[in-house]
Parts: sequence; C-alpha cells; structure tokens
Amino acid sequence: MSILVAHPAATTASRLNGTIAVPGDKSISHRSLILGALAVGESTVHGLLEGADVLATAQALRAYGADIRRGDDGVWRIFGLGVGGLMAPSNVLDLGNSGTGARLLLGLAASHGVTSIFTGDASLRLRPMERVMTPLQQMGAKFQAAEGGRLPITVMGTNGALPIEYRLPVASAQIKSAVLLAGLNAPGQTTVIEPRPSRDHTENMLRHFGAEVSIGEDDDGARRITLTGRPELQPQNIHVPGDPSSAAFPIAAALMVPGSEITVTGVGLNPLRAALFDTLRDMGAQITERNRRADLGEPIADLVVRAGPLKGIEVPPERAPAMIDEYPVLAALAAFAQGPTVMRGIAELRVKESDRIAAMVKGLSTLGVRVEELPDGMVVHGHNGPAPANPGVLIDSEMDHRIAMSFLVYGLGARNPVRVDGCDIIETSFPGFADLMQTLGGRIEAPA
Ligand code: S3P
Repeated sequence: MSILVAHPAATTASRLNGTIAVPGDKSISHRSLILGALAVGESTVHGLLEGADVLATAQALRAYGADIRRGDDGVWRIFGLGVGGLMAPSNVLDLGNSGTGARLLLGLAASHGVTSIFTGDASLRLRPMERVMTPLQQMGAKFQAAEGGRLPITVMGTNGALPIEYRLPVASAQIKSAVLLAGLNAPGQTTVIEPRPSRDHTENMLRHFGAEVSIGEDDDGARRITLTGRPELQPQNIHVPGDPSSAAFPIAAALMVPGSEITVTGVGLNPLRAALFDTLRDMGAQITERNRRADLGEPIADLVVRAGPLKGIEVPPERAPAMIDEYPVLAALAAFAQGPTVMRGIAELRVKESDRIAAMVKGLSTLGVRVEELPDGMVVHGHNGPAPANPGVLIDSEMDHRIAMSFLVYGLGARNPVRVDGCDIIETSFPGFADLMQTLGGRIEAPA
C-alpha cells in the first residue's frame, strides 16, 4: 500500500493558486457506460472518468457482450446491445471498490435471463447488498449471497421480470437506479418512491436516451419516479461534467490555506449533488460561479474559491443526500473553522467504502482535533486557523479514496505534515489527484 505525505503550506511557503479541471463525474460516468451498453448503436462519451471504479464497470459490461473502446483521442465509444440484449458472462465480475458499479449492474442483471457472479475488493465485500436484492427479488430475480447479504453474489436474472412499485427505505440513488435499470427490461411501469430525493442522474439520463420517465409528487411530498419498460434506447453523445465530489478536495484545500485563490472549471452542479457548496457558503466561504451553463440536463459552472475565515455551523440534516459523499472532507475542513461544526442525519456514512464517521473521528482525534462521535454523525471542534497534526501519526485510508484525500488536503493546511497510508485507492475516483494538487502549489508526494 502506498504512503503519501501532504506538506503544510506554512512550511512550503506557498498558497494554492491556479486553474484546474477535475476528472469526470463518477456517477454520470458509470451511467453513461451502462445506458450506452443498452442503446441500439454507437454512443460516444467525452470526459469519462478513467478511474478504477468506472473501468471495472466497463469491464463488466464487456463481459455481458457490449463493445466498449477508448479511442486515442480519449473519447469512449460504446456499441450497445439493446435492452434485453445482455449475454451470460463467462467469468466472475469483479467490481473492485465500486458500490455504484456493483449495485447498478445487479439491477441490470436481475432482468436479463442470465446468471452472473459478482465480487469486489475487501471493502466492497463488507458492504450491504440486501438493499438492492430485496426489490430485485420482488421483480423475480434470484440471489445467492455470502453471509449478511454481501458479495460474492450469484444473481440468476429473469427475462420475465415483473414491474414493481417500490418505496426506498433509505435515500439512495444506487437502490433507486438498480430498480429502474431492472425495470428497463420489465413490461409495463416500474415505480420508485423516494421519501427524500437522491441524485437524479439515472432518471435524467434515461430520458436523454429516449426512455419514458415521469416524475411526480405524492401527497406526503415523496418523489414518484415511473419508468415505462422495454424502450428502444437511442445512442447519445455525452460530455461528462467535472465531478463536484472530486472538486470538493481542491476547494477545501484552498479554503484551508490562507491567501489561496483557485478556479475549478466545468464542475457539475446538479442541485441533488452540490449542497456542499451551500454549506461552505453558510460557513463563510467565498465561492463564486462563472460561466453557468447546462449539458445533458445538468447545470455546470466554473467555481472561483478564495481563502478566508470560516465559522462552524450546524449542517441541516435534510441536506445530507445532496452532499453525502462530501462529509469526510467537510469534517477535515471543519477543524480549521471557528467553533463546532455539527453533522447529523448521516448514519449512511457508516456503510460507504469505509465507516466514514468512525474513520474521520479516529483520524482527526489522533491528529489532535477534538471530535465527538454520534450514532448518526459527528461534531468537529474547529481551531480557527491551522489545525493540529501530531507528529508521527500515520492515517489509514481504510481502502476509502475519500478518507485518503480528506486527510491529505487537511495536511496542506495543518501545522505539520500529514502522512496517509493506502493512497493507491485514490485511483478509484480521482486519478492524478496528487499531481493536480501540485499544479496548484499543494505539495502531496511520496515520502523522501
Ligand atoms: C452514488 C450514490 C451514493 C453515493 C455514491 C454514488 C451513485 O450512494 O454515495 O458515491 O452514483 O448512485 P447511495 O446510493 O448508497 O447513497
């Protein structure tokens, strides 16, 4: 496992400065490949995230018979099979670290009459899969899972899937997407009811590819998404926006290091994804948007970020689904703010690539920050300026890319260098992370 060290700007005498673009959105990249593989004809994808998670999804789709190639020009071409056209994979599908890849593809496999075996790395094999198997069983698929409803899982899909109406027990775009993707090859209408809205890339993109999707609201305010099955999906040319979840790292770093000013271009700002930026503004951060535009029905803008004092806040729990992946880096940044930052309603963080509440609480407290762990969240007490970094500490990434990056950006602003072990995992979502931070003046490198 690889160690990286982040050197504080105070010792390198450099603030962060410059303009960067972050890699393509992970959620949209997975969905581009999946829907491209189900369209009839050739789709192209510009700016696909070439991280290990998305490449694992591409590999699995190839195993189902889709022809997916990366051109020398960096453009990906997908020759789709049509809804219902998946073939039986001849080998086990290894989704690596990717919960999104595993759960979305389980949905797809459930309504095709093929048998597939899914596995993943040690982190993914600990994550709950019951949440997707339950609705997919109702649709007619059969599963054999390891103990606790975990991977490895054999899924015996059915060509005769039943359309269902399913109310999500937790706000989760992965469960919603698994059901909708299964519903693509079911006759009639498949409905997902979301008491609290989660990212809507799947329904946006399904529409874009020509599926009939209607979105309404129930009397209790829940969102009702209905898909008409067995559409003929039309191939598309997709431009993937920059991932707001990746942009969060250089942005947090710029807010930690006094005197910094950076621009991140082409950041996706879907309102169901971008609530971190509202939270940061509530804390006093100066973040301005330039060149607001839209592509694929997704709002995009360049974000200009200037360092300045931050104050701790109570993050509204109802925002959680729209910034669910950003709590680790927010917790790191909160250590630099004035006063406590209270984060609640985020028990879902315990079943991400790691238990992100436990991982942040443990890492921050070993570095010297006062943190309280709550069953459904945490409270970080800020230092109103450079946060402590007890010398000699080695933070463990816990096979979680966002834990690794959160502590590395923390190190750029902290009083001493921060060392993080297991940084290979950053490749899953943000290839070139350390180099990109270097171009801004942030020293993140292998130990001497
Ligand atoms: C994702 C949904 C979220 C998020 C994950 C990506 C997606 O997970 O944490 O990184 O692309 O649908 P949940 O659906 O489990 O909340």
